[in-house]
Amino acid sequence: MIRGAAGLVSGAAALALLVVPPDAGGQQKAPAARAATSAPPAAAAPASVSYAQRFAGLCAACHGANGRTDMPLTPVLAGQPSLYAITQLFLFREGRRSNEAMTAIARTLTDGDLRGFSEYIGTLPPVPAPPPATPPDPARMAKGRALAEQHKCLFCHGAELRGGQQVPLIAGQHEDYLRESLRGFHSGTRPGYTQAMTAAVSQIAPEDLDTLAYYVARFPGAAGASSGK
Ligand code: HEC
Ligand code: HEC
Repeated sequence: MIRGAAGLVSGAAALALLVVPPDAGGQQKAPAARAATSAPPAAAAPASVSYAQRFAGLCAACHGANGRTDMPLTPVLAGQPSLYAITQLFLFREGRRSNEAMTAIARTLTDGDLRGFSEYIGTLPPVPAPPPATPPDPARMAKGRALAEQHKCLFCHGAELRGGQQVPLIAGQHEDYLRESLRGFHSGTRPGYTQAMTAAVSQIAPEDLDTLAYYVARFPGAAGASSGK
């Protein structure tokens, strides 16, 4: 059951082992509900206050004090599940996910820091995207919605695209960041913690990935996601 994840979790990291079967087709439930924590970190210390301070000092310059920033290519962290955050900090630290800024920071973090920052991120309430400067293009939104349904994005990320457990919130994430992430999963430059995303996007044409990024960044909510189908 622990396919894909076991090899990435080195003993010392003591991360939760995560389960996302690479083949979403056979699943009855979204993997958001299926995390197994067979090697959980030691009981959470009441560290959230100090990590709130450390976040303000170390992370907020790029990610925003409330976890939402306008800096190009810098992801919104507000509303991100802590389990997702820890997998990504782990990947940066191990050099499996690479980004100059994040890799440099992650390499300085202890296991306790990975936990502390992730738990803190998990407490940040979602900050919705500001209203778009120009109204979304209806044709592009409809195409994006059809692609999202066809490729099971809503199945794994949830009807509201809010994620859960090791699956990230993506609704309202910055379009440029979404586009780069999807392209990275597609080309292999961003290996995931599991194979889930690589498999999900492997058959999607590059221009359709861009349409998905456009749609997800402007995600209208579950009603908009399912209407017209
Ligand atoms: C110099 C700017 C900068 C600083 C400082 C910074 N980050 Fe980041 N962070 C980024 C960028 C840029 C990315 C996206 C990297 C990529 O595209 O792979 C990122 C990605 C992340 C992600 C993955 C988010 C996702 O949706 O996949 C997490 C989690 C994260 N940062 C946490 C932190 C924490 C915790 C700190 C402080 C200890 C921090 N970052 C400090 C720029 C920064
Ligand atoms: C089988 C379940 C599954 C499916 C289907 C799926 N995802 Fe994901 N997605 C995940 C998981 C799990 C991650 C965390 C990536 C990792 O393992 O590092 C993720 C990560 C992402 C990210 C990166 C977010 C960030 O903050 O960096 C984006 C963007 C994304 N998915 C968009 C999509 C879109 C668009 C679709 C539909 C084409 C889709 N996903 C389909 C499970 C899935």
